[in-house]
Amino acid sequence: MAGKFRFENIIGASEGLKSVLEKVEKIAIRDTSVLVTGESGTGKELIAQAIHYNSPRKEKRFVAINCGALPETILEGELFGYKKGAFTGAKENRAGLLEAADGGTLFLDEVGNLPMNVQKTLLRFLQEQEFLRLGDTKPTKVDVRVLSATNSDLKFAVKNGSFREDLYYRLNVVNIHLPPLRERRGDIPLLAAHFICLQNTKFGTKVKGLDSEAMAAITQYDWPGNIREVKNVIEASMAMASDEYLTLQVLAQFIEMPAEISAYFGEEPVEGDYSAAMARFEADYLKGLLARRSWNVEAAARDAGMNMATMYRKMKKYSLKKE
Ligand SMILES: Nc1ncnc2c1ncn2[C@@H]1O[C@H](COP(=O)(O)OP(=O)(O)OP(=O)(O)O)[C@@H](O)[C@H]1O
Ligand SMILES: [Mg+2]
Repeated sequence: MAGKFRFENIIGASEGLKSVLEKVEKIAIRDTSVLVTGESGTGKELIAQAIHYNSPRKEKRFVAINCGALPETILEGELFGYKKGAFTGAKENRAGLLEAADGGTLFLDEVGNLPMNVQKTLLRFLQEQEFLRLGDTKPTKVDVRVLSATNSDLKFAVKNGSFREDLYYRLNVVNIHLPPLRERRGDIPLLAAHFICLQNTKFGTKVKGLDSEAMAAITQYDWPGNIREVKNVIEASMAMASDEYLTLQVLAQFIEMPAEISAYFGEEPVEGDYSAAMARFEADYLKGLLARRSWNVEAAARDAGMNMATMYRKMKKYSLKKE
């Protein structure tokens, strides 16, 4: 649909993710710097890409660099490029990533790891839109939008002096925070279904979903590695077994299941098609959450990453009542 924002590769229906996407939609078209924060594996790079591909810069490149992966001098050369003879080994002129991203977007991943020296040069670039290639005396001008991401507490880094405050404000004009998956558990079944689909295509398998026990387990599990961990666990499980439904027994090889889960959920196999299985699971899942919260609807809705109205609607749909 022309003119509409498209996030078809970003899965989730929780309030937490919805408000992130609303923000992405608003700021994508504004040419500001955005700092994406969140735990490892929550989708920071995916969101940075969504900003780029929904912006007027989308025809130009999205260039990503991990600021923590390279030694300082190499990082500088990569970012800013160099002139022939700038250092031993600089056999010819080389353009850096800033030039590669001209007209597009530069994504600074793990920006908290930027060495002080590079922070200084980057700040100057953000202020003047120009920089010096290493060994050069003539500035190079480019038009680049800078997005960055961190899973560390940059504010704390500013306080303890390892990150420049002025650079922090330049990068963090807008902040987008991705909540950890355990705070938007409602997204877990959707993500699992999504990764099963992707993996079916890759492996040529026909896995339909998870059995109810496995489904219950994955929504209770805390997923410290967040969405990346879901992806890995589904892939690993499907490499081990490609029965119609993934079982808890298979999944348990890859994640540490809380003990109470199998106790609450029975052993009966799931019957009916996928949507019936999902509905059955959802009813069980919400009932479990409500019970855990002593039927405090607000608290259970929060756990599920749903708003109260949705929770009430679903309680009615599945006739969930305190027994
Ligand atoms: N909402 C989502 N829908 C579908 N896939 C997602 C979603 N969020 C993240 N992913 C996938 O999960 C994986 C991890 O996401 P990503 O690399 O963006 O995380 P990250 O926050 O940058 O992690 P890290 O801090 O470890 O670099 C990727 O394969 C990404 O495509
Ligand atoms: Mg990342």
